[in-house]
Amino acid sequence: MTMTTLDFQQLQADLAQKNPRPILKKALELFDNIAISFSGAEDVILIDMALKIRKNIQVFSLDTGRLHPETYRYIEKVRKHYRIDIELLTPDRDVLDNFVKNKGLFSFYEDGHHECCGIRKVEPLRRKVSHLDAWITGQRKDQSLDTRQNIPEVQIDSSFSTTDHTLIKFNPLLNWSSAQVWDYINDNQVPYNELHEKGFISIGCEPCTRAVLPNQHERAGRWWWEEATKKECGLHAGNLKEIAGTPSITPFLQS
Ligand code: ADX
Ligand code: SF4
Repeated sequence: MTMTTLDFQQLQADLAQKNPRPILKKALELFDNIAISFSGAEDVILIDMALKIRKNIQVFSLDTGRLHPETYRYIEKVRKHYRIDIELLTPDRDVLDNFVKNKGLFSFYEDGHHECCGIRKVEPLRRKVSHLDAWITGQRKDQSLDTRQNIPEVQIDSSFSTTDHTLIKFNPLLNWSSAQVWDYINDNQVPYNELHEKGFISIGCEPCTRAVLPNQHERAGRWWWEEATKKECGLHAGNLKEIAGTPSITPFLQS
């Protein structure tokens, strides 16, 4: 195993304000053990772009058990269209059984989405990323004026790194607008989730996502009963901390 020192600050500077393709290319060049986190929405373009750079890419989706039927059908469509494996990560069965037994199926409407997201999304993600060197997300600045303005193109994932495991997170779509994403989908005939034809823009779990009205912001359709500044489910919890300032950046060793 060779140890390579990566100058993280230099990498951040090199990728600042860049378009998706060069960010993705750099991510796939630097890391073999890297995976795309695919939500079943327009972040599909990461898969399309990545496959044009490298054939063997890892893709996973967090199967919360509460996705729309359209999203399940779409994940399957993407799997077949690109002839790739999409690993579906499911929640810990005992923890989930206990949670549903104690609090039922819709507790998030009463006491917030964090507990349910913690069990159905964050813990399975934590399990997965503990075996990865880096992961790739479809976060964009224009998705949220409240929580996604200060995130960088590449970051040390402060939520999922541990003392003996540094996890890097790439956000290649960061600087693209929704319009640019949809131009790419149209120009490249990328399959999309049929929910987008029914007024859905941002897509999450079925009970926590609804279509938005013309001129409403896309995040208005997510956890609509909660405040905009809390609309991060824990996958990107660092965004909430980073509103206050960017996390400290240190050079790290990649094995
Ligand atoms: S969320 O945190 O509010 O749910 P959002 O829907 O904006 O996130 O998606 C941002 C990125 O988070 C996606 O592009 C994807 O990389 C990741 N993500 C969100 N939900 C999932 C999911 N169910 N499975 C895998 N990745 C996801
Ligand atoms: Fe649970 Fe809603 Fe979070 Fe899905 S988005 S994990 S249903 S709280």
